[in-house]
Amino acid sequence: MSLLKAVNIKVGYGETEILHGVSMEVNEREIVCVIGPNGAGKSTLMKAILGLLKPSQGEIIFDGDDITSLASEQRVRRGICYVPQSENIFPSLTVEENLEMGAFTSQDDYRVRMKEVYHIFPDLKETRKQKVRKLSGGQRQMVAIGRALMLNPKIILLDEPSAGLAPRLVKLIFDRIVLINHSGTAILMVEQNARQALGLSHKGYVLVMGRNRFEDSGQALLENEEVGRLYLGG
Ligand SMILES: Nc1ncnc2c1ncn2[C@@H]1O[C@H](COP(=O)(O)OP(=O)(O)O)[C@@H](O)[C@H]1O
Ligand SMILES: [Mg+2]
Repeated sequence: MSLLKAVNIKVGYGETEILHGVSMEVNEREIVCVIGPNGAGKSTLMKAILGLLKPSQGEIIFDGDDITSLASEQRVRRGICYVPQSENIFPSLTVEENLEMGAFTSQDDYRVRMKEVYHIFPDLKETRKQKVRKLSGGQRQMVAIGRALMLNPKIILLDEPSAGLAPRLVKLIFDRIVLINHSGTAILMVEQNARQALGLSHKGYVLVMGRNRFEDSGQALLENEEVGRLYLGG
């Protein structure tokens, strides 16, 4: 079942078009990964899906509805959550306060959700009274993802969740992403640790200069000689 679909999206900043007709699809319960060189438009695609940028052409379909003209808050309310590449937390607040902020627009009893988030990220339970700025990079990324999970989204958009982390923490974050997925949440992530990300993705897209270049299962992309040579460092 299709959950999220971007169809022929053209979008950019001011007069500059960055995505020249990009399409992609995430099915329910899937992990989908977008890779590609710096500046390809990966983050721009995420922003367009969340409604932070307005496409000049194309449609975003979510859960069977055309949401292209909806405001970001409405998209969030429908179950799309987004963890941007940077500035995705409140450093001067504690872990617990950050999670509470995430639940701000939710109707559900947020304490139940918080328990589930602590179940996925036991680290956060231990550090819940600490100011986030005192935490390690890995823990801060967990706070950012945990905050998005507070809204119990149908899909979570993760922009380079493993960026800047030591290899051990990269693995830990990816393990947690799989755990989140197993709980029923679809994942759309942009990643530079492309091999690892494709290894756990049901499907992957290679985006180059604002266009779709390759689309296949994660495994098939890993085995594709051209993809390996050009986009996975040989
Ligand atoms: N806020 C912005 N204003 C103008 N141009 C931008 C802005 N953000 C990104 N760009 C440009 O859009 C292109 C794609 O950027 P981005 O989507 O961030 O790429 P990626 O995430 O694949 O590295 C780049 O050329 C970048 O310079
Ligand atoms: Mg980016």
